[in-house]
Amino acid sequence: MKELKVGLLGVGTVGGGTYAVLTRNQTEIARRIAGNIRIVQVADRNLALAEQVTGGQVALTEDAFAVVNNPEIDVVVELIGGYTVAKELVLTAIANGKHVVTANKALLAVHGNEIFKAAADKGVIVAFEAAVAGGIPIIKALREGLSANKIEWVAGIINGTTNFILTEMRDKGLAFVDVLKEAQRLGYAEADPTFDVEGIDAAHKLTLMASIAFGMPVQFEQAYTEGITKLTTKDIQYAEELGYRVKLLGISKKTSEGVELRVHPTLIPEKRLVANVDGAMNAVVVKGDAVGPTLYYGAGAGAEPTASAVVADLVDIARLQGTKPEQRVAYLGYQLDQQQTLPILPIAEVHSAYYLRLRATDKPGVMAAITKILADMQISIDAMLQKEPAEGESEADIVILTHTTQEKTMDAAIKHIELLPAIAGQVTKIRMETLSR
Ligand code: HSE
Repeated sequence: MKELKVGLLGVGTVGGGTYAVLTRNQTEIARRIAGNIRIVQVADRNLALAEQVTGGQVALTEDAFAVVNNPEIDVVVELIGGYTVAKELVLTAIANGKHVVTANKALLAVHGNEIFKAAADKGVIVAFEAAVAGGIPIIKALREGLSANKIEWVAGIINGTTNFILTEMRDKGLAFVDVLKEAQRLGYAEADPTFDVEGIDAAHKLTLMASIAFGMPVQFEQAYTEGITKLTTKDIQYAEELGYRVKLLGISKKTSEGVELRVHPTLIPEKRLVANVDGAMNAVVVKGDAVGPTLYYGAGAGAEPTASAVVADLVDIARLQGTKPEQRVAYLGYQLDQQQTLPILPIAEVHSAYYLRLRATDKPGVMAAITKILADMQISIDAMLQKEPAEGESEADIVILTHTTQEKTMDAAIKHIELLPAIAGQVTKIRMETLSR
């Protein structure tokens, strides 16, 4: 097997990790592929950092286009991130007949259809294991390990920053804003945490998993995205009292009406393994018709966990050298010409169970009025919790867990409940999933 020559774009956290893992485990990797993978050129705007990471062993440049246009290079590893320059670099590398490895979930979730088509036209590989759930080989599991199945649903904790924040909110009873500040101080959260805390990063990853699971093009613009910024410690504690944990879940289900593609805070029964995935860890549950539910757990970010996925993609490419495109696993699991553009359900059409919290004057008949509204809309109650009003207050918190109903039915019921004179303010609504079948 000939040597696989790699050009590395970006030596930040993941780029540095990739260089370190590939160098440290060179012998082990060479034993697996009966060949060699060698980084021959590195591009980074920070040449001093690139020098420090590579120890002067590799040709360095500030110009990423010099790498994607370098005829010596077989594979470009794109670890720059973002949609614009990264897209141009990836498309140029493909046009030059190079394989691409990327950790860029945003790029693929938004421009994946164009990128995979360009790659197919040139007969090159675009590998992206590191783009979803960092070091967890979930792309390989979905595309290969579960290929016998009709996938029914995928649900995952696929953003470590928000899982860290939610875990701290629960364990320490701290408010979202305070934990976010702490997470930024510790380097878990970015200075601009919008993509993480608003669920956008999770939606990028979910978009890719859903496409592979159901054999459809990427449709990020159709994803419903709701982050954790409005979650209160009160709701996390009440959920806990009722036997649930609150997690930011990315959920995609195939139903007879279409595909659900949604990211939002979700109550999960505490007895589910995935409910106990804490801190910055990630986990994905995949339900296949033959295998049943399967769970994948591990580090979703960080230098070497993410590098583990990048280097595994390089190992795959080394093994696939000389193969014809039709002998390889399709980019998104299904052959491009076999993809179906399944409709993505608007959130109003989705079916879910719900957690509702409302503040109500503590007097006779209030509960009866609320339950009548729910009964009239055919919404069945699963559990209820009423808290005594705090000292000197006349309003009490009421928490209601419902059985499954359609979101638009739930929203209509909430509107009616909010109109009751005894109800103060707005009803808090959080979706619930059992993740059991
Ligand atoms: N920011 C992501 C997270 C890691 O917090 O999980 C990179 O996708």
